[in-house]
Amino acid sequence: MNTILYMGISINGYIAKADGDSEWTSDEDLKGFYEGSKRAGNIVMGKNTYLAAMKSGYFPFPDALNIVVTHEQIENRWGDERVLITDRSPNDVARLLEEKGFQTLFLAGGGQLNTSFMKDHLINEIYLDVEPLIFGRGIPIFADSDFETELELIETKQLNPNTVQLHYRVKT
Ligand SMILES: NC(=O)c1ccc[n+]([C@@H]2O[C@H](COP(=O)([O-])OP(=O)(O)OC[C@H]3O[C@@H](n4cnc5c(N)ncnc54)[C@H](OP(=O)(O)O)[C@@H]3O)[C@@H](O)[C@H]2O)c1
Repeated sequence: MNTILYMGISINGYIAKADGDSEWTSDEDLKGFYEGSKRAGNIVMGKNTYLAAMKSGYFPFPDALNIVVTHEQIENRWGDERVLITDRSPNDVARLLEEKGFQTLFLAGGGQLNTSFMKDHLINEIYLDVEPLIFGRGIPIFADSDFETELELIETKQLNPNTVQLHYRVKT
């Protein structure tokens, strides 16, 4: 399984403002989420990201199996073909997708779930859309925890006059 983490970030590493707002990312970043999840056929997110996506009207993402990781009982009113709500561990989510025939897992945050996947050594590639913004307080791309990971830069791309995309491979 190849796991790709895709995130829009402020230049100081936040994926949302302190109140959870991540509406400040570019159209190109949003397009990246749609295209990446379509290509992979799935999109995996934590509960807080699901709630934020619901609020913004993005959930469920089309053309992909949407997986929400939570311990909460959330009613699945979209049907099992489109949405899966689960309390499985990151390893088990990856295994489940493999069993369903997926080759790529498209991880869409947020910071807490990203850290869980990273600590379990499940992330292979990272795309960062670096947006031209700094705010002093917010939700970091990786929730605080003790881990360290080395990366290899694969490609940089300018998405628009102000946004740069960094594509990394995670060193094993
Ligand atoms: N800029 C971007 O590209 C981008 C992308 C995605 C999200 N975001 C933003 O990020 C924010 C959410 O990030 P977040 O860090 O607060 O939360 P998160 O990672 O989206 O969700 C965390 C929640 O997921 C559940 N969970 C279940 N299993 C877990 C596990 N193994 N590891 C971690 N969490 C697990 C837990 O909920 P239960 O207590 O219910 O189990 C946990 O409280 C939102 O504001 C969203 O807008 C931004």
